[in-house]
Amino acid sequence: MPEGVHCSPSLSSVGLRPSPVRVGRVRRETADVATLELAPASPFAFSPGQFNMLYMFGLGEVAISLSGDPSDEDRIVHTVRAVGAVSKAVIGLRHDQVIGIRGPYGSCWPVADNEGSDIIVVAGGLGLAPLRPVIYYLFANRERYGRVVMLYGARGPAEILYRRELESWRRRLDVDITVTVDHAAADWRGNVGVVPALVARTPIDPDHAVAMVCGPEIMMRFTIDALRQRGLAIDRIFVSMERNMKCAVGLCGHCQFGPGFVCRDGPVFRYDCIAA
Ligand SMILES: Cc1cc2nc3c(=O)[nH]c(=O)nc-3n(C[C@H](O)[C@H](O)[C@H](O)COP(=O)(O)OP(=O)(O)OC[C@H]3O[C@@H](n4cnc5c(N)ncnc54)[C@H](O)[C@@H]3O)c2cc1C
Ligand code: FES
Repeated sequence: MPEGVHCSPSLSSVGLRPSPVRVGRVRRETADVATLELAPASPFAFSPGQFNMLYMFGLGEVAISLSGDPSDEDRIVHTVRAVGAVSKAVIGLRHDQVIGIRGPYGSCWPVADNEGSDIIVVAGGLGLAPLRPVIYYLFANRERYGRVVMLYGARGPAEILYRRELESWRRRLDVDITVTVDHAAADWRGNVGVVPALVARTPIDPDHAVAMVCGPEIMMRFTIDALRQRGLAIDRIFVSMERNMKCAVGLCGHCQFGPGFVCRDGPVFRYDCIAA
């Protein structure tokens, strides 16, 4: 049975009925990705790595990670890529319109359990969204951790998420942030190459580091290989998995993953619990 890092509130406290929430700000990140800030009627608490179900009235529901600051209970933040009918409608929302949400659901990244460790965050593409709350948490509690390293890969410069925020994070002296793109035109002055290649050139102390990885499955596979080559044991690697979801509470079987369910046992898993 895959073991997640359990942090879900009980089903009875979350419920299955979406609550209407007003849209505050909508910020365009890239051509097909937007970040929505929702204004809940009462404080909303979550742990980094958890997700909500977003309901577009008359269209359907999608699972979307929480991408905001976990210490801010007055805003619910989601970063959404338009790929199908529901996600396209979500990113078309405007200020003051209403969306349904239920959650938070799922397991979380083990940040609180790893105080004293070095933390290596590895994100590919939209995989930065569920890891951004980890970064906020680490910055708010910086003195409790060793080295903090973030490696982020996007397909191209125009696909980099949270660009201004990344630039401000990179000015800090207590965190190592490296950004790379798969392809770029000649005017790009940054790194070019895939994100697993960054792992190979990052100093890692395998006895004191924990890695948190999210991105396309192929990127996660090569990143895990690179981390293992650097000596990191598989029980020090955590990944977030995506599967099609309907109920989000372990009832319908849509997100079956081996003997478990991604919605109930994940989405964050310790890698040794799911490695074949
Ligand atoms: C735990 C969890 C967290 C997630 N977090 C986020 C998030 O933070 N932001 C976000 O944008 N999405 C996230 N997703 C994905 C999201 O739930 C939907 O799958 C996605 O938005 C598409 O939904 P749709 O109904 O609009 O499209 P659908 O109608 O389901 O799909 C339309 C087409 O797009 C393809 N497709 C479906 N999903 C994807 C995808 N992820 N990438 C590329 N193609 C796809 C389908 O195969 C289909 O061809 C998450 C999923 C899970 C399980
Ligand atoms: S979505 Fe229903 S069991 Fe996971």
